[in-house]
Amino acid sequence: DKKITIAIDGFSSTGKSTLAKQLAKHLGYVYVDTGAMYRAVTFFAMQNGYINIDSFDKEILINSLPSIKLQFKFNADLGFAEMYLNEVNVETEIRTIEVSNFVSKVAEVSEVRAKLVEQQKEMGKDKAIVMDGRDIGTVVFPYAELKIFMTASATTRAQRRYDELIKKGDTVTYDEVLANVEERDYIDTHRKDSPLVMADDAIEIDNSYLTREEQFEVVLDLVNEII
Ligand code: C5P
Repeated sequence: DKKITIAIDGFSSTGKSTLAKQLAKHLGYVYVDTGAMYRAVTFFAMQNGYINIDSFDKEILINSLPSIKLQFKFNADLGFAEMYLNEVNVETEIRTIEVSNFVSKVAEVSEVRAKLVEQQKEMGKDKAIVMDGRDIGTVVFPYAELKIFMTASATTRAQRRYDELIKKGDTVTYDEVLANVEERDYIDTHRKDSPLVMADDAIEIDNSYLTREEQFEVVLDLVNEII
């Protein structure tokens, strides 16, 4: 089989990472969750007081970018890689609603994107990779052999994210999660640098009514047509 690059983009909480992980495991490919990288930079900015409810000091964040080291380290027990920020595992910290509330603002900053995109391109240079995000098929890997664009209604997505957070013991309301999903979609699709848009050659999958297995089968068929 030939090794390919698989780019999965779409709105927040469309099940991109579930699908990407499943595919990577099945194919023996590397899986990279680029949202985790934007989340880690956001967590860094929060920790240092560069961003909060009423202010965001972009300049200071931009100036401190060289001191941010992001790494994915594979956790064999979990079967997937975890996000490390300056050698500290931040996998739990980056998944909170607080980080979700700020991440799209941090992801608008071109200097942040440039740094992360460079690292992402480097990770994909040997192919055999499944990467999910918002700009993978358009900016990171414009020559990916397979591009998937995932959609689902905002309410389906909010319900999924809400169930996930509740399961983890977070105290959030459904309305809060829905508002966050809608706000992130708005910022992600309207930003100047690398807005969320479907690549011309991407295949759209609306998974509002597809089970996890059905969606996996659909995409696996597409992969098998190529490899
Ligand atoms: O995928 P996830 O929902 O964890 O992504 C969090 C946020 O990071 C997105 O809402 C978006 O603002 C940003 N992001 C991005 N480009 C990517 C991945 C994520 O701008 N490739």
